[in-house]
Amino acid sequence: MLQGKSILLGVSGGIAVYKAAELVRLFVKEGASVHVVMTANARQFVTTLTFQALSSNPVGCDLFSIESESRISHIEKAREADLVVLAPATANLMAKMAAGIADDYLTTILLATTAPVLVCPAMNVKMWEHPATRRNLKTLTELGYRVEPPAVGFLACQEEGAGRLADISNILESALRLLTPPTLEGRKVLVSAGPTREHFDPVRFLSNPSSGKMGYALARIAARRSATVTLVSGPCSLEAPARVERISVTSAAQMRDAVLNLSACQDAIVMTAAVSDYRPAEVSPRKIKKSPGQLSVVLAPNPDILASLGAAKPSGQVLVGFAAETENVAENARDKLMRKNLDLIVANDLTKEGAGFGAETNEVKIMGASEETSLCLMTKEEVAERIWDRVEKLLASGKN
Ligand code: CTP
Repeated sequence: MLQGKSILLGVSGGIAVYKAAELVRLFVKEGASVHVVMTANARQFVTTLTFQALSSNPVGCDLFSIESESRISHIEKAREADLVVLAPATANLMAKMAAGIADDYLTTILLATTAPVLVCPAMNVKMWEHPATRRNLKTLTELGYRVEPPAVGFLACQEEGAGRLADISNILESALRLLTPPTLEGRKVLVSAGPTREHFDPVRFLSNPSSGKMGYALARIAARRSATVTLVSGPCSLEAPARVERISVTSAAQMRDAVLNLSACQDAIVMTAAVSDYRPAEVSPRKIKKSPGQLSVVLAPNPDILASLGAAKPSGQVLVGFAAETENVAENARDKLMRKNLDLIVANDLTKEGAGFGAETNEVKIMGASEETSLCLMTKEEVAERIWDRVEKLLASGKN
């Protein structure tokens, strides 16, 4: 996700410095080239060697280093970065930035860079709440710095409150968002995900093994591209992606109500949910007790949400369905594309290894009225990127 990107990680002196080491590892894992700059106080907590080993690059510390300043390295570093991340950013660093002070290597780079800067504060809760820090935070926001707010919890100083460095995964997501062109800015999109549950009684239900991963990946990537995203999710164990509004539902009827309630104002809707086609015709209000012999359950058909969306599709809206098949994949998918009045259908063959329910990967065919693309096995996030590329193309053409 960060292939070809250069990230400058500024590390200032707080106990959360050790977490910055993990951040370097994640950035590197995503393909970024990482250059770490440490303040003198940060070096009291962790040595430069840790960051050098993790980033495979020399760590910048000294503004007046004879060796690096022969190339005016703080200006060079400021120019090279696609993104600057400050983690942890201490109250002192924030104060200097707000005042425009440049008295060491890191603060000099911060004045010289034109790259986006993501500030990830970490400090004691009283310091975070101090009026001077609040004022500095406001100034930083006005100056165009992006802030990843600290998490609330138990702090190293034995106090509780806001001040913990934000979750590393949230910092990574914000970094990805800052490095992603906002191609869906101003667009409203809705994604459905996960299974539905159709209860027989209060403790038993009919469902399927959908993990929700494909839908959550679509929601995450759309938010990364700056769309306003609503995720209507059946029961699953995944965390809501950052900057996504999640509406949790259980049954197909609830999913239909939530989706149809919001559908008219969406620029695009992607239905990845594995909606149960049937529900028990009768639901017992009490647990059904065991009795000798067979138990028969009569099933009633559920509403087809996607078909309802297709029937009432406003002009200009892009509607995408999924077709999870075990035979005649392309034929069945094309039939659904036409029958449900879709712009695109994403077909996957559940019998293929690495595709379908629960997997981290998927192998799909994206089919439109006139264009068909077969993708090789890739991560669900990569599949999501390709789907949004196609949706963006349709939105831009206005032909749907
Ligand atoms: N879908 C839906 N409402 C349903 C069933 C399916 O909105 N009651 C949507 C799914 O979210 C998916 C698409 O329709 O985007 C295709 O779902 P799938 O289960 O593959 O197809 P069905 O239309 O249910 O047809 P079949 O089960 O016969 O393959």
